[in-house]
Amino acid sequence: MPDDKPQLYRDLAVQLAALLEGESDRVANFANMAALIYHGLPDLNWAGFYLRSGDELVLGPFQGKPACVRIAIGAGVCGAAAARGEAVLVADVAEFPGHIACDPDSRSELVVPLIVGGEVIGVLDLDSALPARFDEADRAGCEQLVALFLSHRNKDTVQAGYPADVDPQSRCRLPLPKREDLDQDGQQAYDRLADPTGGSLRGLKGPGGIQLHSPELARRSRPLNHYLRYEAGLGGRARELAILSTARELDSQFEWAAHEPAALAEGISPEIIDAIKYRRATRELAEVDAVVIELGREIFGARRVSPATYARTLQQFGRRKLVDLVALMGNYAATAAMLTAFAMQLDPALPSPLPACSSRPGELG
Ligand code: SME
Repeated sequence: MPDDKPQLYRDLAVQLAALLEGESDRVANFANMAALIYHGLPDLNWAGFYLRSGDELVLGPFQGKPACVRIAIGAGVCGAAAARGEAVLVADVAEFPGHIACDPDSRSELVVPLIVGGEVIGVLDLDSALPARFDEADRAGCEQLVALFLSHRNKDTVQAGYPADVDPQSRCRLPLPKREDLDQDGQQAYDRLADPTGGSLRGLKGPGGIQLHSPELARRSRPLNHYLRYEAGLGGRARELAILSTARELDSQFEWAAHEPAALAEGISPEIIDAIKYRRATRELAEVDAVVIELGREIFGARRVSPATYARTLQQFGRRKLVDLVALMGNYAATAAMLTAFAMQLDPALPSPLPACSSRPGELG
C-alpha cells in the first residue's frame, strides 16, 4: 500500500476528470469510474456501484465477481450507507450485522453514498480480501472522487443555467416522480401527465410532477382544480384572465409561460395579455375582463379588495361564481407557491416572459 494515499487519490481524481470530460452518458461514466478505482487502488476484489430504485439499491456498473443484484435500503453495508446518507467503513465484515456476503473472499469494505439534491441516488462500494484494508484516508479520497463524479453529472444543470440544487431532468429541486413508486391511482395520474395529449400543460415537468411526490395531495387536489377550471361555469376566458392575473401578481414566470398560450387560445388578445403583464390600466377593457384583472391585482398585489372592485365583481359573476373565481385564483396561487419553493425552471431555450420580479401595481408603464 503506498504511504501517500492522499497523493494516490489526487492522481485518480485527475484521471477520473479526464475520463469524464466531454461524456454525459451515465452508464459509461459509472463503468469507467468503477474500472479506474478497481485497477488504480491496490488490494481490491470488488469495486462498483449500486444505484437507487425506490426502496432498493440495484447493482450497477462494477469490476469483480458477479454480485447480488438487489439490496434493500438499510440492509447490509451498502444499504446502511444509503439509509444513513454517509460513508460506512467496515474493518471486518464478519463483525458487521447484516453484512451481505456476495464474494466470500471479502474481509473489509468501504461504502460511500452518492447524494444529489439531498437524496441518495446510489452508493460506491469497495471490497477487499484484506482485513482493515480501508482507513480514513480512503474514505476521504473516495468521497472526493464521488464528489468529482457528481459535479460532472451536475454540469448539465450548470450549463443550462439552473441553480445547483435543480435536477436537470425534472427542472426543479425534486426529482421526477417514479411510476413504480406510485399506487394504481398515482400511476393513472402519472400516465395522464406523461401523455402529451392528456390535458396537462406541462406534464411531469411541472406542478403535476411536483404534486405526485405527495400522491394523496395530488389525488385530492385534481378534482378541485378540474371543478374550478371546467365545471364552475366561469368560462375559459375568465379562467385564463384569473390565472394570468394571479401568475403576474405572484411573479410566477413558469405559471405565466404555461398559461399565456392558453389565454391566447381562449381568444384573449395580446393587448390584454400585455395589460396584465405590464400592469396597465384596464379602463378601456370590457367590464367582464377588467374586473377579473383588478380582482387579482387587489387580492395579491394590494392585499385588500376595495368596496368598488368587490361590487363590480359581484355584479358580473354573482355570489356563487365569485366565490369560485376567488377559489380559482387561490388554487393557482398554491401552484405558484409550489413552483417557487421547488424552484421550477423555465425551458432554458426560452426567455423569461415576465418583467423582473416584485414591482408592485403602478410601478410599471
Ligand atoms: N457486501 C455488501 C453487498 C455488496 S457486495 O459487497 C458487492 C453489503 O453488505 O452491502
